[in-house]
Order: sequence, then C-alpha cells, then structure tokens
Amino acid sequence: MSAERTLSIIKPNAVKKRLIGKIEERLVQAKLDIIAMKMVHLTKEQAEGFYAEHQGKPFFDGLVRFMTSGPVVVQVLTGENAICRYREVMGATDLAKALAGTLRYDFADSITENAVHGSDSPQSAEREIAYFFADDEIFD
Ligand code: TYD
Ligand code: MG
Repeated sequence: MSAERTLSIIKPNAVKKRLIGKIEERLVQAKLDIIAMKMVHLTKEQAEGFYAEHQGKPFFDGLVRFMTSGPVVVQVLTGENAICRYREVMGATDLAKALAGTLRYDFADSITENAVHGSDSPQSAEREIAYFFADDEIFD
C-alpha cells in the first residue's frame, strides 16, 4: 500500500473550544502525519465553493453560516489508507451515530457543528487539497 493524502478541517466550534491540541493528539495516535497546515477564516464564497456538492440541500445555508462563524485549521494528512482511516477517527457525520472514542462522538455539538471534516474519496481529497494548498505549501 502506498501513502494517501487527505484534507482535514478542524471546524469553528472545535477551534473555539480550544480542542486543536486534543485533535492533533488523536492524529498522532492514528499515525496520520501533518504535511501542510494553515488557519483561515473562510469567506462565504470559500465555504460555498468547498461544499458545492451540497448546494440546494436543506442544511446548506446553516452549514455555510457555521463554517464562516470563526477560524478553522486546514491540514493535509498523510499515511496508509489516510482517507478511510481519518474518516474512522472522525466518526459518523451525525454525532448520535458516531462510535465512542471518535472525534465527533467526543467533540461534536450537533450534526452541523460536528468538529471536523475529512475527505471522503481520493477524488474529493485531490480537489479539497488543491482548494486550500499550492504544491509548495505541502511538505512530504
Ligand atoms: P456530509 O458530506 O454528508 O458529511 P461529512 O462531513 O461526514 O462528509 O455533509 C457535510 C457537512 O454538512 C457535515 O459535516 C455537516 C453538515 N450536515 C448537516 O448540517 N446536516 C445534515 O443532515 C448533513 C447530512 C450534513
Ligand atoms: Mg462529506
């Protein structure tokens, strides 16, 4: 198996609650290495573009409002099966369905304010990484 890359976002509720360090510890435990990182306060246009696949869904406006409510930490993670494994570390979208010990079980406040984002496929990882990082901002 070769190493994969995935895009992670620590969402505004988790940043506000000073959970960045706790989330980073879980990444270390899961052997997901950080190869790019920045803090950014998304504009409405950036959040809408990032979540374009969800445009028109009933939760879209609330999602964009939440994602622009404060700064986020955007990272590129790498490791074996990084895409799938980070989704496992994160847990289900809806915290009510997330397994104990996952980031969302521990840190989500609601289905929308669910603490973290992770890419869901190699195609989305490629698009999402390029959405935030130039090649020379990624270190591996
Ligand atoms: P989705 O891509 O389905 O989930 P995931 O983040 O696990 O890949 O949805 C994107 C985000 O939209 C999700 O993290 C939180 C928000 N959302 C809601 O607010 N309500 C919903 O019913 C769903 C499905 C998602
Ligand atoms: Mg998704």
